[in-house]
Amino acid sequence: MAPVNPIRVTERAQTLAAEVLNPGDITIDATAGKGRDTAFLAMAVGPKGHVHAFDVQAEAIAATHKLIESAGLNSTVTLHHRSHAEISEALPTAHQRKVGAVLFNLGYLPGSDQKIVTLPASTSIALQDARAQLRSGGRIICVTYTGHPGGTDESNAVLQFAVASEKEGYIINKVGYFPDSAKPWILVVTRT
Ligand SMILES: C[S@@+](CC[C@H](N)C(=O)[O-])C[C@H]1O[C@@H](n2cnc3c(N)ncnc32)[C@H](O)[C@@H]1O
Repeated sequence: MAPVNPIRVTERAQTLAAEVLNPGDITIDATAGKGRDTAFLAMAVGPKGHVHAFDVQAEAIAATHKLIESAGLNSTVTLHHRSHAEISEALPTAHQRKVGAVLFNLGYLPGSDQKIVTLPASTSIALQDARAQLRSGGRIICVTYTGHPGGTDESNAVLQFAVASEKEGYIINKVGYFPDSAKPWILVVTRT
């Protein structure tokens, strides 16, 4: 895959999700934040699809709710005010192992409390949990940053997940300036 302009890293992540999505798909936004990825996924899968959006911050859940409500996407989205480390527990039985795309945008929410940040341990659990929920052809897209405190450790945890996933037969792509430091990169894990 071609290098990615870091300014457009989130748009690139959305494009990588859209490549594998069909109308009616089940999707997950693992880090809802201000809700832009949630809204994007909801529009990509249409009214017959569904998005499960996770965030540990009440402020992020409220912002995402506001955005999807104003866009008329309420019925397509379930908001989960809980950690993405609990994806499998949160998904209804009818959606288990049927997920077309999972988006992670790690780090902290710009303009919010920078101490509330994704962490290597819960990110590793969430990535494994998300992978277990993919349908055939489904994909995890994980935007990873190294520029904030703890970012390098988290980036290394994402790399370990990539190595383990490749050994288990998943297709792995690393998009962006990887392995340059202090620049975001995207891990793409696709189930065959
Ligand atoms: C970079 S922001 C996401 C931006 C978002 N995708 C958007 O479009 O606005 C990272 C988000 O991850 C959330 N977060 C941190 N730890 C989390 C966890 N364990 N589970 C779910 N979300 C978490 C933060 O609260 C923050 O809102």
